[in-house]
Amino acid sequence: MRHFLDLSDAGGDALAAMINDAQDRKTARVGWPKGKPDADAPLAGHVLAMIFEKNSTRTRVSFDMAMRQLGGSALILESGTSQLGRGESIADTARVLSRMVDAIMLRTDDHEKALEMARHASVPVINGLTDRSHPCQIVADLLTVIEQGKALPGLELAWLGDGNNVLHSILEAAGLMKFNVRIGTPQSYEPEMEFVDMARSAGATVTLTNDAREAAAGADIVVTDTWVSMGQEHAHDKLAAMAPFQVSGELMRAAKPDAKFLHCLPAHVGEEVTADVFESDQSVVFDEAENRIHAQKSVLLWCLEKI
Ligand code: CP
Ligand code: NVA
Repeated sequence: MRHFLDLSDAGGDALAAMINDAQDRKTARVGWPKGKPDADAPLAGHVLAMIFEKNSTRTRVSFDMAMRQLGGSALILESGTSQLGRGESIADTARVLSRMVDAIMLRTDDHEKALEMARHASVPVINGLTDRSHPCQIVADLLTVIEQGKALPGLELAWLGDGNNVLHSILEAAGLMKFNVRIGTPQSYEPEMEFVDMARSAGATVTLTNDAREAAAGADIVVTDTWVSMGQEHAHDKLAAMAPFQVSGELMRAAKPDAKFLHCLPAHVGEEVTADVFESDQSVVFDEAENRIHAQKSVLLWCLEKI
């Protein structure tokens, strides 16, 4: 069973194949109506169930559109209106959905719930974001980086701000695809060391600093995310601690002249990034958002053993 709970479930070779397939499919349908199925409709007749315990715009729409483009369809279960919201167990939900649909995507607060879903499902389970990681986002991010003509091996990626779930998946990708990560966070907002160690033991160079400029210096790609993730307290002391890590025009000038700016969105312009960077030519955030569809298609095709 091919679950996609974290990037290492697929591994480096499969990840490279997924990015290639996403690029090929994207190129093949340029100019087509967005809901028209790809010529080979490889998931015709397949249905994806999406469970959301947290808000979403991109993940929700991109998985739905990905299934349409692959010839299948998707349905949504909101935890508040399904029996999950009344206490039906993850285990029973996994077993019921496995009899009814071909794959399950889950966005939840607690990574353990995704693991529990995978333990009991007999169809692939995809992590659509947990408190621990956001692997689907990073498939789209890597596709975006490659589209910008940058090779992954040896790439210098700078992360500024909060050491969160998105950074964890970037670190996992760094180990798998052999790029380097320079992390600038306030003290005590560093990522989980488990992910740093995983990247380092796979050969990536990971630098941790509390100096934003040092993190950004010479970077090919500069990435940030919201300072307050879903489910976190909007703590005033956190915002104050994060302020020096705002991605500003001045900080971007510390990176390489052709550096690109990524953000998984939603953005809080004026907090983690200034408007001049967000709206600049260096910003590829809307390519990145569009690439969620193309990346999601690869994730689905890998899970259903078509890649
Ligand atoms: N980047 C991302 O996952 O966006 P949504 O929360 O809108 O799905
Ligand atoms: N770190 C953010 C990502 C949102 C897509 C969150 O978890 O809210």
